[in-house]
Amino acid sequence: MTTPEYSPGLEGVIATETSVSYLDVDIEQILVRGYDLIELAQNLCYTDVAYLVIYGELPTPSQAKAFCDRLVAEAEVPDELYQLFEMMPKSTVAMDALRTGLSFLAGYENPELLHDNSHEANLEKGIKLLAQTPTLVVNSYRALNDMPIVRPNPDLPYMENFLYMVRGERPDAESLDAFDRIHICYIEHEMPNSTFAARVIASTLSDMYGAMVGAVASLKGPLHGGANEAAIEFLMDINGEGGPTHAEDYTMGKLERRERIMGFGHRVYMRKYDPRARFLMDYIPKLAERIPQGQDLSSIYSTVENVMYREKGLYPNTDYPIGLLYYLLGIPIPLYTPIFLASRTAGNVAHVLEQHDDNRLFRPRVIYSGGRGLKPPASPISP
Ligand code: CMC
Repeated sequence: MTTPEYSPGLEGVIATETSVSYLDVDIEQILVRGYDLIELAQNLCYTDVAYLVIYGELPTPSQAKAFCDRLVAEAEVPDELYQLFEMMPKSTVAMDALRTGLSFLAGYENPELLHDNSHEANLEKGIKLLAQTPTLVVNSYRALNDMPIVRPNPDLPYMENFLYMVRGERPDAESLDAFDRIHICYIEHEMPNSTFAARVIASTLSDMYGAMVGAVASLKGPLHGGANEAAIEFLMDINGEGGPTHAEDYTMGKLERRERIMGFGHRVYMRKYDPRARFLMDYIPKLAERIPQGQDLSSIYSTVENVMYREKGLYPNTDYPIGLLYYLLGIPIPLYTPIFLASRTAGNVAHVLEQHDDNRLFRPRVIYSGGRGLKPPASPISP
């Protein structure tokens, strides 16, 4: 048998066939169900795009209304979820609380539906997860930080309710608009680690909930979704240690120590600009006026971007502007990656649907570098 070519990190490897999305790097376009993601973000709202991602085509006005109504109607979670979050050690980080919450939620699903991987059953569970995930995201964080629980408000549309739960008060129109567009930018992105994790899990014919729980664990890492939190922390560190005039030296010091600057570089875009980062950076100047340190953070943002391009030829990925934008929107930093997960839920639901609709188990091979021919002793070693 010939050994297939080995690609560390599966770089460049085709993992599956999909009609959900594709990164057309040559023309710097993210194709989602045939549309340019940036044009979707410019023109539509998150729930329209979520419908497109999950169902494969844009909704009619009546389908869009029914979908939105359903997301609002199904946003509440069992009381025990709130109790669970309150029982967790206060040192639990928000992404871990969310992971546990989603896993716990599976126990409240109708057992027949839980283990039914048909398209209809998966749609049912997927839409429920899309509706409930914001409630879990916000209230796990709130409970861990001794803040009052904010239950979903059935009088508010899906995205407004999400930001309302984050802030504890109804958001202004400018915040809501930016929050919605950022959410669209995060909704789906071909085959990142967390989507791959969800599909790998689904490929064993495990259920939708399990696939989502695996995706949370994957997205948490700073090389993936965790980069949005790391990116703003980096900008804040610079601001705390000298401000904009110190940004160049601080960044150079990191690079000289061969440390990574989170929010830069990308396995697929390589040396090209992430279209989402290009689109979203236009929101920074306006939102920077909203907080006292906004201008300084914005100036540091630009300096670091210039240094990274000059020294490494690297562009920002979407986590770089989003880290700053969420901060300008007053969102607590530990919520950044959980909110990313909430927006990506639509994409991951679509991928699990696709995986179960035409499943083949993921089961790759290895290049073995261990020993051979060793013989065990004739009797057990343990007492
Ligand atoms: N800071 C400094 N150097 C970097 C960075 C960075 N952010 N990213 C890549 N490099 C360098 C790296 O040191 C290496 O240089 P050299 O060849 O001189 O050793 C070269 O670029 C190639 O890096 P790599 O790690 O082999 O590339 P990869 O494709 O395995 O990694 C990546 C991709 C995203 C993990 C990496 O760019 C990175 O660590 N970025 C920072 C974390 C981040 O922003 N993650 C979010 C990714 S996009 C959104 C998402 O999926 O959530």
